[in-house]
Amino acid sequence: MTEHLIAPHGGELTQLIVEPERASELQEASRDWPSWDLTSRQMCDLELLMNGGFSPLTGFMTSSEYGSVCESMRLADGTLWPIPITLDVDDAFSEGLESGATLALRDPEGVMLAALHVEEIWSPDRAQEAEQVFGTANPEHPGVAYLLEQSSPVYVGGRVEGVQRPSHYDFRQLRSTPLELRNDFARLGWRKIVAFQTRNPMHRAHQELTLRASKEVGANLLIHPVVGMTKPGDVDHFTRVRCYEALLGTYPQFTAKLSLLNLAMRMAGPKEALWHAIIRKNHGCTHLIVGRDHAGPGSDSSGTPFYGPYEAQELMGEHEDELGVEMVPFRLMVYVQDRDEYMPIDEVPEGVEAKSISGTELRERLADGRDIPDWFTFPDVERELRRSHPPRHLQGFTVFFTGLSGSGKSTVANVLQVKLLEMGGRPVTLLDGDLVRKNLSSELGFSKEHRDLNIRRIGYVASEITKAGGIAICAPIAPYAAIRRENKKLISALGGYILVHLATPLEVCEQRDRKGLYAKARAGIIKEFTGISDPYEAPEHPAVRIDTTDISPEEAAHQIFLHLEKEGYIGAAGP
Ligand code: PPS
Repeated sequence: MTEHLIAPHGGELTQLIVEPERASELQEASRDWPSWDLTSRQMCDLELLMNGGFSPLTGFMTSSEYGSVCESMRLADGTLWPIPITLDVDDAFSEGLESGATLALRDPEGVMLAALHVEEIWSPDRAQEAEQVFGTANPEHPGVAYLLEQSSPVYVGGRVEGVQRPSHYDFRQLRSTPLELRNDFARLGWRKIVAFQTRNPMHRAHQELTLRASKEVGANLLIHPVVGMTKPGDVDHFTRVRCYEALLGTYPQFTAKLSLLNLAMRMAGPKEALWHAIIRKNHGCTHLIVGRDHAGPGSDSSGTPFYGPYEAQELMGEHEDELGVEMVPFRLMVYVQDRDEYMPIDEVPEGVEAKSISGTELRERLADGRDIPDWFTFPDVERELRRSHPPRHLQGFTVFFTGLSGSGKSTVANVLQVKLLEMGGRPVTLLDGDLVRKNLSSELGFSKEHRDLNIRRIGYVASEITKAGGIAICAPIAPYAAIRRENKKLISALGGYILVHLATPLEVCEQRDRKGLYAKARAGIIKEFTGISDPYEAPEHPAVRIDTTDISPEEAAHQIFLHLEKEGYIGAAGP
C-alpha cells in the first residue's frame, strides 16, 4: 500500500521491535543481565532506532562505524550518515562488561525497552569527536557541551532488539512512527510530501514559508517539530504543540499534517540538516525545507556564528541527489508592510522597508507584557505563548543573597520578605541559612562538598517555588561561585533569578560578631570558617551589590526592592 512512497534510507525500514514471543523470551532472560538506565538523550535515540526513524541503523554504533561516521559521514557500507549514534555509559558500569554480554536498556521507571547485544566497549576521544562532528570543541556550542560535560566516557556498541516502545502520555495521537505516517500518507493519497523541521513556535513567517514551499514543489506539507531534546532555553514542547495545533487551521484544508518527532537534536548545523533529511525520508517525505542557519546553535560569546547562515543549504545541495530527498531552500522571510506580505529577504525590492522580530525580542515583549503585532503572529498562537510566558510581574522569582557571616543577609532578607508580603499577590518563602541548616541540611558540616550540597538543596527548593509562581528569598553564605552559577541556570529557566551580594567587608562583619563565631574561629575553636579559615568567592556580576557598613537594613532592602521594580518583577500596582 505504501510502495509508491519514497523508499527509506538504505532501502528498508529497519524497525527493531521484535515479535511478542521473542519479547517475552528477552524479558525472561533479562533477569541475569546487567541493566542500564537510559538518559533522556538515549531514550530519544533508542525510540528512533526502534521505530525505523534511524534506518538503516540496527543498533548503537561500534567503534569502526563511529570512526567512519565522524571522519567521513559514512557507515561501513558507504551509506551516508552524518551523526554518530552511540550509547555512553560511566566507568563504573563499564567495568566487568564484556563483548558478547547482553544489556537490558531500561526507561527511568525501570521498564525494559530493549536488549543490546554488546559487540564492543571502548573509550572514545570525545574532544576529537566534537571537532569532527561539530567543527569545534568550544563548550559554548550546546552539542559540544553535552558531549564533553554531560555524556559518559565509555561507549557500548551493538545490535538492538526492541521489546516495547517508550510510553508517552502527552499528545499521543500526534506521535506517529515512520510506518504510521507512511500508512497515513498512502491513505490520504499523498505522494510528494515536504517536511518542515522546527524547534520553535511557528508564526506568520513560518506559515508563509511552508505554504510557499509546498506550492513551489506541488507537495503536501508535514509539519514535523522536534519534541525530544532541543536547545536549552527553547520554548517547552507542550506550549509549542498547542501553538502548532492553533496554526494548523490556517492552511488550506487537507494539505497539511502535524506529527511530532521525538528526536534529540545535536544542533550540528549543516550535518544536522543532512541527518534531518534522512530521518524525514524514513518518515516518507520527499522534500525538506532548509532555511537560514538550519539547526544551528547561533554564535559563541565573541559573536562569531558556529556555522555560516547558508552552510546547511550548501552541504545539503552536495548530497541531495545521493539522498533522494530534495531540498527546498529558503532565505530569511521578512514582512513587507507596503504590500502586507511576507517574502524572502533577497526578493525585497531595494528601498522597501522589511520587518522581522527575533526570538529574543519576542521573549522580551512577552516578559514585559508588550504588544505583539498582528503581522508577526496569529492571535491563537499569541494567546498560547502568553499563557505560558506571563509578564514578569506575574512570574515567580528568587532573590539569592550571598555574603559573609554577619554581612546582614538574614536581617535584610527578613525586611525584604515583609515588604513583599505587605505588597501581596504572591506567596513568599524565606530560606535563611540557619533555618535551612536546621530543617533541610541538619546532617551537613562546612566542608566544600557539604556547603555545595546545602546550596544545591536550597537552589532546588527555590526553583520549585519559582516554577509555581512564588517568591523565594535565599540567604545562605554560598561562598562558591560554581554552585551559585548552577542554581542560576536552574532557576532562571523557570522564572526570575536575582543575585544580591552583601559585600560588607570582613573587618566589619568580624567587629559585629553577633553570634561570637568570629572570636571562636580566630581561636581555632571553629574550623573552616568562611573568611577566616575558609574561602569566599565574591560574585563578579551580581544584580545588586550592597555594603551594609553604613546603611540600615530598611535602606538595603529598599535598594533591592527598587531593582525588582526596575526589572519588572513588581508591577506598578502590585501583581
Ligand atoms: S553555606 O556555606 O552557605 O553552606 O553556609 P550557611 O549554611 O549559610 O551557614 C549558616 C550559618 O552557619 C554558621 N556557621 C558557619 N559559617 C561559616 N563557616 C563555618 N565554619 C560555620 N560554622 C557555623 C554561621 O552562623 C552561618 O550563618 P550566618 O547567618 O551566615 O552568620
